[in-house]
Amino acid sequence: MNSTERPDRTAERSAAADPVRDRPMTTDEIRAAYADQADRLYRFDFADRLLAGRYRRRQFGDAEGRVLDVACGTGTNFPYLPASVDLVGVDVSPEMLAKAGDRLDGLALDGTLRRMDAQDLEFPDDSFDTVISALSTCTFPDPVAALREMERVCDPDGRILLVEHGRSDVGPVARFQEWREDAHYASAGCRWTQEPLAVAAEAGLSVREAETSFLGMITTIEARPE
Ligand SMILES: C[S@@+](CC[C@H](N)C(=O)[O-])C[C@H]1O[C@@H](n2cnc3c(N)ncnc32)[C@H](O)[C@@H]1O
Repeated sequence: MNSTERPDRTAERSAAADPVRDRPMTTDEIRAAYADQADRLYRFDFADRLLAGRYRRRQFGDAEGRVLDVACGTGTNFPYLPASVDLVGVDVSPEMLAKAGDRLDGLALDGTLRRMDAQDLEFPDDSFDTVISALSTCTFPDPVAALREMERVCDPDGRILLVEHGRSDVGPVARFQEWREDAHYASAGCRWTQEPLAVAAEAGLSVREAETSFLGMITTIEARPE
């Protein structure tokens, strides 16, 4: 479904109290959570390929030029990027970056990895032609700051490409997510009832394309820096 056809519940949802977002974990707590998860996420990569692979391929398959992958994790996006790109991957977790390095070694892709906070990117303005990020805004203590940073470092003629997940459009699934959201956040540092388009709107991103799929839980977003 295209964003123009999707009922706009952004205002209604962003106005609602969000217990998880209102008391975010710190960046250090998130880093610790992912230190424990890096090995398991890397080993169970096949599950991600099955569930999210097609969205990553569609969203990132035509990335161009200097590409920044923000919160690259174990490098799950890397196999979907064209071999021609010049890649920089950043993440706050050294354990996740170590796995990303292993993955990069097995690919015909030029890339460097740096430990960095997405909310405070250590790059000058307009440094990248394409800024990509997947399944990340749900974990940032301040996702609005991170999206603004992505926009800042993206060239004015470039693109910001996101694959995000959030609250389902299907009532029973959404209710299950709501029931488990606190426990899920405590164990995985992930706000799985977030509204990706509401976060993008709050960051002032100029969204050109957005599409939701997978029971409304996956949202792909293409934005252009203003
Ligand atoms: C759910 S994982 C997604 C990883 C990868 N993008 C993917 O699609 O598989 C979230 C990632 O965000 C990273 N992260 C969380 N907060 C961060 C921050 N403030 N700055 C940079 N990375 C962060 C975590 O370390 C973790 O690797």
